[in-house]
Amino acid sequence: MKDDDELCLCFHVSRRKVIQFLKTQRPKSASQLSECFGAGTGCGWCRPFLRRLWESEQPETESLPNPETYATERAAYRDKTP
Ligand code: FES
Repeated sequence: MKDDDELCLCFHVSRRKVIQFLKTQRPKSASQLSECFGAGTGCGWCRPFLRRLWESEQPETESLPNPETYATERAAYRDKTP
């Protein structure tokens, strides 16, 4: 996943926006990333990935799935959740 790819597909929040939010706002909990354009407040698929970036010392170097795999796995996740 590159910086301009969407990390939160529900709210079209790019990886770049999330990383910028982490650097400038320094949220004290991963859930505060919801203040970044609503990231993580839709289907919930992206929350573990948001947390991974939040936990990282250098979020810009974290490896995340490629966008196609990410979107496909999210679709399967959404099919399973009520
Ligand atoms: S992809 Fe982020 S809440 Fe659905």
